[in-house]
Amino acid sequence: MQIVTLFVLSFILTSFVCLHSTKAFDPLYVTCGSTGNYTANSTYCTNLEHLFSALSTKAVTIEGFSKNITGTGSDQIFGLVLCQGDVSSTVCAQCLNQSFKDVATMCPYSKEAVIWYDMCLLRYSNRYFLDSTDNAQQIIIYNTQSTGGGRFSGWESSNSAHKSYIITVVNTLLSNISDQAAYNSTKRFGTGDITIPPTVPVLYGLSQCTPDMSNDTCRECLLDLIDHMLNYFDGRTGGAHTRS
Ligand SMILES: *[C@@H]1O[C@H](CO)[C@@H](O)[C@H](O)[C@H]1NC(C)=O
Ligand SMILES: *[C@@H]1O[C@H](CO)[C@@H](O)[C@H](O)[C@H]1NC(C)=O
Ligand SMILES: *[C@@H]1O[C@H](CO)[C@@H](O)[C@H](O)[C@H]1NC(C)=O
Ligand SMILES: *[C@@H]1O[C@H](CO)[C@@H](O)[C@H](O)[C@H]1NC(C)=O
Ligand SMILES: *[C@@H]1O[C@H](CO)[C@@H](O)[C@H](O)[C@H]1NC(C)=O
Ligand SMILES: *[C@@H]1O[C@H](CO)[C@@H](O)[C@H](O)[C@H]1NC(C)=O
Ligand SMILES: *[C@@H]1O[C@H](CO)[C@@H](O)[C@H](O)[C@H]1NC(C)=O
Repeated sequence: MQIVTLFVLSFILTSFVCLHSTKAFDPLYVTCGSTGNYTANSTYCTNLEHLFSALSTKAVTIEGFSKNITGTGSDQIFGLVLCQGDVSSTVCAQCLNQSFKDVATMCPYSKEAVIWYDMCLLRYSNRYFLDSTDNAQQIIIYNTQSTGGGRFSGWESSNSAHKSYIITVVNTLLSNISDQAAYNSTKRFGTGDITIPPTVPVLYGLSQCTPDMSNDTCRECLLDLIDHMLNYFDGRTGGAHTRS
């Protein structure tokens, strides 16, 4: 399984921790897959419950990450959970708990699904994906919370000097945090910021691979995402990109 995420956030420092709210964790992305449905009270259903329980129990004790397999034959399910590298095990457990509930509501009886939050992500499937290197699934999310159509104030897509300057800055930040994730973190997690006053506000970045990836593979995967991200980055005040 290879899964990596990159974020660039600016302007808005999101208030992540709001534990007494019923909407403490809002999904950023959900997909219910296409491998069919199981039925209520089936073996698949029981296996899924066991899977969620095993994933959650292990993830909160081991660096916010776990993989597991339950069942056999056509009732076999593969699962993976990952919490953002800097959240506590309590928040990790709460986010995963929420993900199990949300996925049951949003993808009822679906044999596979992916659900992704700021704080954690869950993927399960009846198809093997745990060591997949095909990187087939890509998710791109833009920051929509800002004025000026989601772009920096004064941004002109046609101004190539402005554009290449910002792209250089964003690339510097993302390369730096990706090096950190790959080579300076056993969790494969990196964060950072860069300030270039006065034209652009502070940029914040976050990158993460699953900790089962080798340092070089993680770096390679993140580099590939950076390339994609810079193509999509057009003055937007933020964005996120995931592959799994
Ligand atoms: C699975 O269930 C969903 C919603 O209940 C339905 O739209 C979909 O067609 C079903 N898929 C299969 C393969 O039965
Ligand atoms: C599933 O089991 C519960 C409790 O045993 C029962 O109430 C429910 O009717 C069952 N649902 C189906 C679809 O068999
Ligand atoms: C899945 O979790 C169970 C319960 O924690 C554990 O006994 C089992 O070894 C795990 N299986 C795999 C394939 O990780
Ligand atoms: C999930 O939260 C509920 C309460 O909302 C709690 O009863 C349950 O034990 C939690 N499950 C896990 C796996 O933490
Ligand atoms: C990465 O960022 C850190 C912290 O801001 C800084 O100390 C370091 O020099 C940067 N490394 C590179 C290669 O830019
Ligand atoms: C990358 O991982 C390999 C294998 O664990 C290790 O030998 C190497 O020193 C690591 N490289 C860096 C730069 O951390
Ligand atoms: C590596 O991590 C340590 C501890 O978090 C930090 O002090 C150091 O600056 C980091 N090195 C680089 C090159 O980012």
